[in-house]
Amino acid sequence: MRLKDKVAIVTGAASGIGQAIAQVFAREGAKVIVADINDEGGRETVDLITGEGGTAVFGHTDVSVFEETKSMIAYAVDSFGGIHVLVNNAAYLKDFKPVTDTTEEEWDASLDVTLKGVFLCSKAVIPEMIKAGGGSIINIASVGGLVGFASYAAYCSAKGGVIQLTKSLAIDYGRHNIRVNAICPGPIDTPTTPEAQDEKLHQWQRDMTVLGRTASPEEVAYPALFLASDESSFITGSNLVVDGGWTIR
Ligand SMILES: NC(=O)c1ccc[n+]([C@@H]2O[C@H](COP(=O)([O-])OP(=O)(O)OC[C@H]3O[C@@H](n4cnc5c(N)ncnc54)[C@H](O)[C@@H]3O)[C@@H](O)[C@H]2O)c1
Repeated sequence: MRLKDKVAIVTGAASGIGQAIAQVFAREGAKVIVADINDEGGRETVDLITGEGGTAVFGHTDVSVFEETKSMIAYAVDSFGGIHVLVNNAAYLKDFKPVTDTTEEEWDASLDVTLKGVFLCSKAVIPEMIKAGGGSIINIASVGGLVGFASYAAYCSAKGGVIQLTKSLAIDYGRHNIRVNAICPGPIDTPTTPEAQDEKLHQWQRDMTVLGRTASPEEVAYPALFLASDESSFITGSNLVVDGGWTIR
């Protein structure tokens, strides 16, 4: 059990990659707080975990609202006595457009969840991690934070920010034994991406990788498990690219 006696919060865990991370962490002994705005999906994740004998609770949380992130942390501490791992996975996954078609409201909504949400959840959790003697924060960024994509202006901007925020957090809190790392997934088969709805886009994704395929959410969950566990104890400020080789050429 690689996360025995650890308490982990996973945001956006009602679906896709976050749900897989929550399940893998629970199988490795973590007590998991499933945080999401999707109550039905969040409860489904909890049921999947408890159905396998794991421990999880759901907390309705909008990561773009500081009061809600503070309540999420308080709920975790009340439920399980402390927090050791935070996975900032929630993101705003709609309104993919070029800049001239993007409204100010869409830009703000995207940045508020995808970038500010990482800031707010980290700000809320760090005092608890300091109390616990350290912790691991894992920020799910994207290859869209490394290279540009057509019609993904706000998303790519936010994900580039997540990669930079990861480094700043790592520098500021390293002496408190808090490690902060990012993961940049490439094409992962989850329900809500535009590529999942369109076979031509899906084929394009497969062609873009060196491995010639897309990946399952579990193929991001295991790298996250590594970064959450003590196996990565000297790794901080890094960006683990999990993209089947998409960005190497
Ligand atoms: N699927 C991919 O190909 C891919 C590639 C690169 C990066 N990513 C990143 O992985 C992460 C998960 O994406 P996914 O594909 O699993 O998507 P998903 O839609 O399956 O899951 C996203 C979850 O975030 C939740 N969420 C949205 N706004 C929220 C908010 N304000 N507060 C709390 N929760 C909120 C949603 O309800 C949903 O459960 C995202 O950060 C995404 O950018 C995904």
